[in-house]
Amino acid sequence: MNTPVILNERDGSRFEQRDGDTILRAALRAGVGLSYECNSGGCGGCKFDLLSGEVDTLWADAPGLTARDRQRGRHLACQCRARGAVSIKAASAAEYVPLRTPRRRQAWLTGVSEITHDLREFRFRTDGVADFLPGQYAMLDLPGVGASRAYSLSNTPNEEGEWHFQIRRVPHGQGTHALFDRLACGDEIGLDGPYGVAWLRTAAPRDIVCVAGGSGLAPMISIARGAAEAGMLETRKLYFFYGARTPRDVCGQAMLEKLEGFGERIHYIPVVSLPGEDGAWPGETGYVHDALARSLPGGLPGFEFYFAGPPPMTQALQEMLMVGHRVPFEQIHFDRFF
Ligand code: FES
Repeated sequence: MNTPVILNERDGSRFEQRDGDTILRAALRAGVGLSYECNSGGCGGCKFDLLSGEVDTLWADAPGLTARDRQRGRHLACQCRARGAVSIKAASAAEYVPLRTPRRRQAWLTGVSEITHDLREFRFRTDGVADFLPGQYAMLDLPGVGASRAYSLSNTPNEEGEWHFQIRRVPHGQGTHALFDRLACGDEIGLDGPYGVAWLRTAAPRDIVCVAGGSGLAPMISIARGAAEAGMLETRKLYFFYGARTPRDVCGQAMLEKLEGFGERIHYIPVVSLPGEDGAWPGETGYVHDALARSLPGGLPGFEFYFAGPPPMTQALQEMLMVGHRVPFEQIHFDRFF
């Protein structure tokens, strides 16, 4: 069978689609910076117009497309495979060109640890180096689960091929059911990555703010660890906010305490939305973006921001930073978890 070739008429790029890739993964593997975010059909960041040729759609009801998009015949590059040569019109930009080329690998589960009542760390090993940037994610192909699932890495790049993920159990979630209930140490899965553009900017000279909400802990821990390993915390401070529902959901402090400078250069600020009626919770309450505006010293444009969490949290933060405090967009890096 011929290898489909995709032409993006918007920027003139041309690339081949191989090995069952979606159009998005084929583009990124070829070094073409098609716009994207979640790689999972949720965000709509990879929408394109099909100008000629035919595609197969993997998830017809993906929430990344609106009814209007569907009426206009638009598609998601992360949820489509070309059947043959196709021409598309899709947004692209240099910031989406991968600095680490995503690659498919076999990975083996080597260990699991409990972090909270519903959050676990899963450790996988691959042959060769674990080549990614702190803050990125990988797509996991899990046994018995139809579509790949995106999970953020919590460790830092390494020669040993270690890929660690901190994953919250999703009620009725197929991916987390496979991970939490079926996978055993030694089992093999498929791992494709890295992906994502909310990676640690080591050249940025500003103090760092990480904000994790819900299951967004992993990439923020990776950013904090990466900043420590790169020596960034010798000249910068790190403020780490964790937004949780209840005190028993709070986590992350123990991992940060292992980093040199905790308490002096690294500040951990947990925020809960439901502190309980007993008044025992000693810390911040309410929305994490409000706590951030109250707690950070000086003007917010003086910081480099990283955040990961559910769309309402990331949207509230983005609006507060950009509209309310005029933080330049280049200083804001985030992943929405759908
Ligand atoms: Fe395709 Fe998010 S990248 S919908």
